[in-house]
Amino acid sequence: MLSLGPLKLHSIFSLSPLAGYTNLPFRLALRELGGLGLATTDLVNARSLLEKNRKAIKLIETRPEDRPLAVQLFGSVPEEMRDAAVILESLGVSSVDINMGCPVKKVCKVGGGSAMMNSLGTTARLVKGMVDAVSIPVTAKMRLGWDDANWTAPDLARALEDVGVAAISVHGRTREQGFKGSVKLAGIRAVVEAVKTIPVIGNGDVTSASAAMTMIDQTGCAGVGIGRGAFYNPWIFSQSLHLQTTGELLPEPPFKERIRLMTRHLDLMVEIFGEQLGCRMFRKVGPWYAKRFGPAIEFNRRIVGISTRAEYDEILEHYLKWREPFLDADGNLKPSYQPAPMPLNFSDAPASAQRESIPVPSGPVEIW
Ligand SMILES: Cc1cc2nc3c(=O)[nH]c(=O)nc-3n(C[C@H](O)[C@H](O)[C@H](O)COP(=O)(O)O)c2cc1C
Repeated sequence: MLSLGPLKLHSIFSLSPLAGYTNLPFRLALRELGGLGLATTDLVNARSLLEKNRKAIKLIETRPEDRPLAVQLFGSVPEEMRDAAVILESLGVSSVDINMGCPVKKVCKVGGGSAMMNSLGTTARLVKGMVDAVSIPVTAKMRLGWDDANWTAPDLARALEDVGVAAISVHGRTREQGFKGSVKLAGIRAVVEAVKTIPVIGNGDVTSASAAMTMIDQTGCAGVGIGRGAFYNPWIFSQSLHLQTTGELLPEPPFKERIRLMTRHLDLMVEIFGEQLGCRMFRKVGPWYAKRFGPAIEFNRRIVGISTRAEYDEILEHYLKWREPFLDADGNLKPSYQPAPMPLNFSDAPASAQRESIPVPSGPVEIW
């Protein structure tokens, strides 16, 4: 079990924020599969929340079954961050996560860092203001630092622990790396060693239950945050929890179950965003499911233009027929059409596959 202050999580495997993806329909679909401890929203601008901006309010939309839920805040004005945290607490959110950049001065001077990262002291004061204002846990998410010469996360984590944060999430890459290269498990371990008692949630590249366990074994982290891996393999939370508690690796879910989940995900998107927007947003979701379908060109070609729920049924029916020639007499994909085994970590996949399969965010990557 993992505790963030008073908040007890039944699973140490959590959903990391992915702007544009970790919305309510996706969180609910994942929760129904089990094994998910804490889920986090996309990052939300604290000021927009205070101004009751329509988009910000939509980002924090939740339901009782969407618990425990962390909302991730982004901002540099201490009063705004504090007041936004107070609002979130009053709305019944389980914890508040702070999106943190890297505190190296040279980065901030040239505008590369977020303003709140000017110095450890400034950051710590901002965070303390939030911690003092709410009784729900306040956590922070950071990268290792600016580059390999500046792994600033351990010092920052320790300073934040001193002002009362309940946990630290750390993506084991530097800003210089962006999303390239491999995750530095030694960097995550350095953060684990720097804090006194609070849990550290290791994050980066985990796409399988065994990779989640490797991250724990090699870093000593108390929990694992999974972002893109949840799209690649939505069952990763239940598989990881199962592996952690029984030592047994579960097989990949069958095709039928993938279709069931994909349909459920779309139905939740339609229910929550309305048919028009839900279907439009599903255009970038469908191809993720198709990555494990085997031959799927025909599905992808049509799903990226979907506009109505009825169209989905038609696309699926057509695709299932189109797929038949690739199946054997038992209805399984013939061996030559089966997708390659899933890489344990994104960074284990060949570079060409990484480019194809991992969406590189178009948003403010320097703060993720
Ligand atoms: C499309 C996309 C959007 C992201 N949005 C956020 C965000 O809003 N806040 C944040 O702290 N990190 C964000 N991240 C970073 C992820 O939370 C995570 O740290 C990173 O992707 C590494 O973990 P993963 O390999 O499990 O995805 C984003 C990453 C991606 C790819």
